[in-house]
Amino acid sequence: MNSTSMPGSRERGGLRGAVPLCHYFLRERVRHGDRVVDATCGNGQDTLLLAELVGETGRVWSFDIQEEAVARTRERVNAAGWGGRVELVLAGHENLAALVAGPLRAVVFNLGYLPAGDREVRTGGTTTVTALDQAADLLAPEGIVLLAVYTGHEGGMEEWEAVRGWCAGLEPKQFNVWQARQLNRSAAAPFVVVVEKVASRFTPA
Ligand SMILES: C[S@@+](CC[C@H](N)C(=O)[O-])C[C@H]1O[C@@H](n2cnc3c(N)ncnc32)[C@H](O)[C@@H]1O
Repeated sequence: MNSTSMPGSRERGGLRGAVPLCHYFLRERVRHGDRVVDATCGNGQDTLLLAELVGETGRVWSFDIQEEAVARTRERVNAAGWGGRVELVLAGHENLAALVAGPLRAVVFNLGYLPAGDREVRTGGTTTVTALDQAADLLAPEGIVLLAVYTGHEGGMEEWEAVRGWCAGLEPKQFNVWQARQLNRSAAAPFVVVVEKVASRFTPA
């Protein structure tokens, strides 16, 4: 089986973990020419996939508040030859609306702290929810927001409570909101939230 026939199977563990599942949804939804955002670029793995999926005519905005993360991501996209389609932003994703031009096909958040980085520098409920509000406004019809959520670290559960409250408050006629977790792993294992903006032509009965 190749990655074209089975998106998500590229990673050796298949759909094990939140990141492969996010990538599965991104491959399903993002097309050449799309505008997308990586709200937490970190080591750049989500940005790299997004840059591949949007192609030469698309645009990726990648945010992080750490210079180290932006530098690592820049190195990876340049090595792939995709630097021209990625705008790296050294700023908090709570500034999304001021720095990004919609409509957006996808916005991906990988919450928490930079792996092998400073654990004190991590995403937080207030800024995440601010960014989510802006992302939801900028989404194209059928566009998606994906969140990889981690509750095991300090502050992780509080951030999840804020995100869950925001999700639960979304108007069901305008957004479909899903939570996906692996039932055969610990309750502390990371999970995924998918928020899809409903196509404007769809009128529920
Ligand atoms: C779990 S890591 C992201 C991992 C990344 N997606 C990857 O592929 O490696 C979370 C990142 O969020 C960043 N971050 C924390 N607060 C932020 C904010 N307000 N805006 C943007 N990035 C933030 C951290 O610096 C960290 O690099």
